Amino acid sequence: MNNPQKSGNGLFSPVKLGLFVHWGLYAIPGWHEQHQYRLRVPRAEYGKLMHEFNPVKFNPEAWLDRAQATGMEYLTFTAKHQDGFCMWHTQQTDFHIGNTPYRRDIFGELATACHRRNFPLCVYYCVVDNHHPNYTNRGIGHELPRPVAGDEPDVLKYAEYMKAQARELCSNYGPLATFWWDVNSDLKHHDPGINEMIRQLQPDILINDRGMSDGDFSTMERHWAPELEGELAFTKKMEACDSIGVESWGWRKDEDYFTTKYLCQRIDLALAKGGNYLLNAGPMADGTFPDVAVQMLNEIGAWYGKVKESLAGTQPASNLTENRSVLLTRRGDTLYVHLNPEPNSSRVVLSPLTQIPLRAILLNDGRTVDCRVELLPSTHVKQEKVLRLCNLPAAEYAGSVMVVRLDFESLDAAIALGNSRDTVAADRAKVM
Ligand code: GLC
Repeated sequence: MNNPQKSGNGLFSPVKLGLFVHWGLYAIPGWHEQHQYRLRVPRAEYGKLMHEFNPVKFNPEAWLDRAQATGMEYLTFTAKHQDGFCMWHTQQTDFHIGNTPYRRDIFGELATACHRRNFPLCVYYCVVDNHHPNYTNRGIGHELPRPVAGDEPDVLKYAEYMKAQARELCSNYGPLATFWWDVNSDLKHHDPGINEMIRQLQPDILINDRGMSDGDFSTMERHWAPELEGELAFTKKMEACDSIGVESWGWRKDEDYFTTKYLCQRIDLALAKGGNYLLNAGPMADGTFPDVAVQMLNEIGAWYGKVKESLAGTQPASNLTENRSVLLTRRGDTLYVHLNPEPNSSRVVLSPLTQIPLRAILLNDGRTVDCRVELLPSTHVKQEKVLRLCNLPAAEYAGSVMVVRLDFESLDAAIALGNSRDTVAADRAKVM
C-alpha cells in the first residue's frame, strides 16, 4: 500500500473514513462555528473570546486514539475558520492561539502527534475572514455586510496574507495530506500561484475544489447533488463530508444529532461508490469531545470495523445488479451486498445474477445468509430466475447497515451466466 504521508493518492486508494475537526474560539459560546457572523456579533466583541480560550484538556493523542478506534485513517483540522482566528503560531496576524491564555501551538501539537503515528494530517483554511482588515466584506454569502470602520478592503493584499499563511502551514508542520480550502465562493479570487506554491512546498499534497482552482478532489457536503446521489460510482475523486450535528460543525451545547444509522448509511454510500468520507465532530472549549460524540463515534466504529472489508480496497460494482435498492462492491471473486438504503423486507433480489455463491455471510455478525436461485411469482412474466438472499434479520439491524459477503467460485462466470439469462427453462419443472 502507498504510504499516505508520501503520496496524496494514498489518501483515496483504498477509500477511507477521516475525522474532520472544527475547533476554535467558537467552542466557548458553543453554538455554531460561524457564531460571529450568524449572530451578528461585532468583531471587537467576538475577538474578546481570544482572551478566554484555554483548552487545558487538549490532548492530540486522545483525539487520534478516538479517531483510530473509530476506524478513521486521517484528520482534517480547521487551522483557520471564517472568524479568522488562527490555531497556529502565525506571524501574519495577532489573532492567533499564541495570544490566548493557552498560548501553545495547537496545530503544531496536532501535527507532531499525527506524524509520530504516521497518521495523515490535512489542513482546513477558510478564505472568508470576518476579522482581517483587508478582506473585502461586501455582504456576499458568509461575508460581513460591509467593512468594519478602519478596514482597508484590498483583494490583492488579502491574497498575499492567505499566501503567507499557506506558506507557514506548508513549511512548518511536516507533510500535509490535503489542503482544504473553504468558501472561496464569496471572494472568488482565483490565484493559481497560491496552489502552485502549496504544491512546491508539499509535492504530494492534494488540494480540494473550494479554493483557487478545481483542485484534485471534490467535496460534497451534507446532501449531495441529485446527479451524484444517482451515480453508481464516482467518476472523480470525491470526499463527502458531514457533521454528527444537524446544525453545527463546531460543538453546539444543545445540538440535534444525526442518528448513527443515518451516518453509517452516508458513510457506506460514499465509500461504496469509491469516495472517502470525512465525519466531523467539534470538541468543547476544554479540548475534549462531548460524551455524545464519543458514544456516536463508538457506535459508528463498531459497525465500520465489521464491514470495512466491504469498502476499503474494493471496487464499486452496483452496475452488476438491476436492483437499485442495494449497493454492490467487489474484490476479486467476492461481491459485497450493502443493504443501503434500509431494506423494506427480509429479502434481497440480485437480478440478473443467478449463481448460488459458495458462501454468504452477514458481515455484521458472521451469520450465514440463505441464498436461493429461483423463479419468483413476481418474475413470472419474463420467466426469469433470480438470486435471492432471504431471511435477512432486517428488524434486528434496523439501526444499522447490513452488508452481506458473497464468495463465488468465479464472479466473472457468475456475471456471464446471469447476463445470458437462459437458465430458466431448465428449472421451470422444479418450480412446478
Ligand atoms: C459548511 C459550514 C462551514 C463548515 C463547512 C465544512 O459550509 O457552513 O462552517 O466549515 O460546512 O464543509
